[in-house]
Amino acid sequence: MKNVLITGTTSGIGKAFAEKFADEGYDLILVARDEQKLKQQQAALQETYRVAVKYIVQDLTQENAASLIMADIDKWKVAIDILVNNAGFNECGFFVDTSLDRELEMISMHIRFATELTKRILVHMKENGYGRILNVGSTGSFIPSPTDAVYSATKAYIMFFSNALCGELSKTGVKVTTLCPGATETEFAVKANIKNTMLFKIAVMSPEKVVRIAYRGMMKGRRLVIPGIYNKLLVAFSKVMPVSITNRITIFMLKQPKIR
Ligand SMILES: NC(=O)c1ccc[n+]([C@@H]2O[C@H](COP(=O)([O-])OP(=O)(O)OC[C@H]3O[C@@H](n4cnc5c(N)ncnc54)[C@H](OP(=O)(O)O)[C@@H]3O)[C@@H](O)[C@H]2O)c1
Repeated sequence: MKNVLITGTTSGIGKAFAEKFADEGYDLILVARDEQKLKQQQAALQETYRVAVKYIVQDLTQENAASLIMADIDKWKVAIDILVNNAGFNECGFFVDTSLDRELEMISMHIRFATELTKRILVHMKENGYGRILNVGSTGSFIPSPTDAVYSATKAYIMFFSNALCGELSKTGVKVTTLCPGATETEFAVKANIKNTMLFKIAVMSPEKVVRIAYRGMMKGRRLVIPGIYNKLLVAFSKVMPVSITNRITIFMLKQPKIR
């Protein structure tokens, strides 16, 4: 039986990943902060899919989060075959106005934590000669985004980091994939107060569909998965357009609608 560790499983894309991997017969280690939700999720997944499910309650913005997770994995003597670095959140608005504390937490979780956990698990994957790592970026990984400056920068880091690892690991059995979803119907936009923006009005995908496409891509060892034709076009467009134009489009897409 293969083991998958997924961060941020209590809602959205991470929840859909947990269900997909359980459906494929994987044993799961789930990570998030809400113990009640994790407990319920563990029971539901075990009951429905007859796989073994463990969970770790951990705030991933904490400096020692990766070491604490590894301590549990070592204690359980579980070899992780697949790692999905999914947990994430957004803090939108003009940089001068947004919460610096939230942005520093975002940098801790999206960059520091994901980097550390990847290194610690990759060591074992290389020894075992097999592994799949999926890091969740965003279409924002390609697009410096005014009113989402820190988020898009962290997601660019995730893609650069993952792409570089692909090069290092090409002759091993370990493959690294960056998943770059666009607007997806989860709690993400509600929490970031961007649900009513243009971005979340066009071609919004379901988390289940995003995960079906991502799963196929990562199992084939693809370097990059951009789910949906609209998101693929958006990324292609952003590569040929000057930043001054993508800047203006992004501000428009993330602008709060006027209340009449
Ligand atoms: N939805 C979109 O439109 C969209 C688009 C592009 C990329 N993404 C990316 O997709 C990934 C998943 O987001 P989602 O849309 O599924 O969002 P979501 O529905 O808000 O789910 C986020 C998950 O992350 C966990 N999480 C948040 N902060 C955490 C923390 N400090 N420590 C531990 N766990 C934490 C949450 O669990 P707890 O609250 O229980 O801890 C939850 O399970 C993120 O990396 C996001 O950037 C989303």
